[in-house]
Amino acid sequence: MKIIIANYKMNPLTLSASIKLAKAEDFSGVFIAPPSLFLAGVKENIQRAGLAAQDVSNSELTTGAWTGEISATMLKKIGVKLVLIGHSERRVSGETEAQIAGKVKTALAAGLKVVLCVGEPLIIRQKGMSAVKEFLKKQIVSAFSLSKNHQLPTKNLLIAYEPIWAIGSGQPATPEVASEVSVFLRSLISKNYNLSTKILYGGSVSAANAKSFLNHSAIDGLLIGGLSLKPKEFKKCV
Ligand code: PGA
Repeated sequence: MKIIIANYKMNPLTLSASIKLAKAEDFSGVFIAPPSLFLAGVKENIQRAGLAAQDVSNSELTTGAWTGEISATMLKKIGVKLVLIGHSERRVSGETEAQIAGKVKTALAAGLKVVLCVGEPLIIRQKGMSAVKEFLKKQIVSAFSLSKNHQLPTKNLLIAYEPIWAIGSGQPATPEVASEVSVFLRSLISKNYNLSTKILYGGSVSAANAKSFLNHSAIDGLLIGGLSLKPKEFKKCV
């Protein structure tokens, strides 16, 4: 079954609006990632979809003196099944490779599914596919650098390929490019870590193009931003 993740980002404004949205997108195979403030409220109102978080602390503590942080164990206890890590919008606001590696390790240790987000900026894309692959390989190797092989469970580790230039731009990668990158990432992870990982695509997914990605056997699902705020359109992707 293909996986669809609805990343609400910093939307919508209120808990009641979040609940309304989540109820309209409550399908099996879907994970809903509302703002952390609304996780508990959304959880109580969904039955089929899984609850997802947009971020997690890199601290290994379950509780402690970390102002503003939410631990992986807290997320797990509230019913979160899956967490996004290393989204490009967090990387540009200062999240480091070291923090991402810490988050991957901590979230996996807490038993959460991890969706590691990777993707190249336009300047790398313009250099061609081998530059893209080199860039993605560095992101993956760095993100797993704190986790030993036995701490990277196949069933809990997913990768989302999200080219930065495609996010929110209305200009998605072609399904062929997304598929080629998925094949590359899957074989890289299999070779380096002996894991078979699900690879998702994200970046300007629309009701019109979703199926063209999902029809590729190499693409295991979608990470959807903007469209997840439009339930009627979102439904067409599920
Ligand atoms: P988008 O965002 O679907 O609005 O392009 C995707 C994402 O950032 O996860």
